[in-house]
Amino acid sequence: MQNEPLALYIHWPFCLAKCPYCDFNSHVRDTIPQARFAKALRAELAHDAARLGRRKLTSIFFGGGTPSLMAPETVAALIEDARTLFDAAPELEITLEANPTSVEAGRLHQFRQAGVNRVSLGIQALDDRALAFLGREHSAAQARAALETARGLFPRLTFDLIYARPEQSLVAWREELTTALQLADDHLSLYQLTIEPGTRFESLYRKGAFTLPDDDTAATLYEATADLTQAHGMAAYEVSNYARPGSESQHNLTYWRYADYLGIGPGAHGRLSFGNALVATRRHRAPEPWAERVERTGTGQTQEEELTPHDRAQEMLLMGLRVYEGINLSRFYARTGIRLEDAVDQSVLAQALQEGYLNLSAQTLRATPEGRLRLEALLAALVL
Ligand SMILES: C[S@@+](CC[C@H](N)C(=O)[O-])C[C@H]1O[C@@H](n2cnc3c(N)ncnc32)[C@H](O)[C@@H]1O
Ligand code: SF4
Repeated sequence: MQNEPLALYIHWPFCLAKCPYCDFNSHVRDTIPQARFAKALRAELAHDAARLGRRKLTSIFFGGGTPSLMAPETVAALIEDARTLFDAAPELEITLEANPTSVEAGRLHQFRQAGVNRVSLGIQALDDRALAFLGREHSAAQARAALETARGLFPRLTFDLIYARPEQSLVAWREELTTALQLADDHLSLYQLTIEPGTRFESLYRKGAFTLPDDDTAATLYEATADLTQAHGMAAYEVSNYARPGSESQHNLTYWRYADYLGIGPGAHGRLSFGNALVATRRHRAPEPWAERVERTGTGQTQEEELTPHDRAQEMLLMGLRVYEGINLSRFYARTGIRLEDAVDQSVLAQALQEGYLNLSAQTLRATPEGRLRLEALLAALVL
């Protein structure tokens, strides 16, 4: 496994405001410490590259938080560093998540100049009432304007929407999604609203300030999403991701295929193989203590754990059944050291195959669309 190619994730932990639904590692500061964080991210990248050697690099992903708040020079410097430290693939995919406020939209051309070739816009909804409910800092018109700016600049473009919002009817969602598909390029991420522990929405939801669509309605919305995207030539290639064939996010496929990735920045995690060992890495989550640790030791890493074959099998099942392509059985054995049939509950597997939730061929185990609809419950029962 030594020569596994590598994907690079870079976490930028700052946002203009905290959205009430969001439990990502994101923080609001009066002034973002740009220079300090640029320096620390570059230091951490160099530190880890020295240990990894010149592996083939297949993708870079700037995620957050709001990486479109990064100084474009920092994005440029990190891309250049990564290209120097690793053996960059000619088709290197470089994605940056951007929020569609005017401040950030104005900087998109600088991100393009820095080498970003794919942008992921956090549009979330196409009407102002929904955006206000979601606590977003931008209007629907701003979102559309940012989309048009990005379209003129980047070879690849995707955006996120959050649906199954309070009182969202099937008719309303079909209409919104139809508009979104007209605006879309070749990729969309469509997430059902979830209530995450510790968020403002959690306490509001507990107090009964709003309700969510029930499970049946959510399932109907999910199926309508698959139908409409399919009719538009975009396949559901993962639970919440839709693309024209060939336009899938290579970076995210790395996670789902359980391949190696290096994560730098506060709270970023990684999976890295060294010979036959596979290690899980974690960094300090809070931004300033992370930076302080990097300044002191060269890395913000707090934990490194060698994964057992059982850990790996569990993780690879959890990741691999999210994607339509499923899990390649030979790769499963090569990556985990366990045969797939020894990693799952045989009677649950047999039942799930019979009920049409899973599909097993000589080389592949995959979840069917019905299976992906109830993936959490299925995995809980299936994985030993
Ligand atoms: C790291 S976040 C967003 C990046 C960027 N800061 C933004 O807000 O556009 C990635 C995506 O996860 C989705 N997301 C976050 N929390 C969610 C939740 N509780 N329910 C559904 N989708 C959520 C949003 O669509 C968001 O764009
Ligand atoms: S959704 Fe995006 S902008 Fe909002 S808090 Fe989360 S990371 Fe920040």
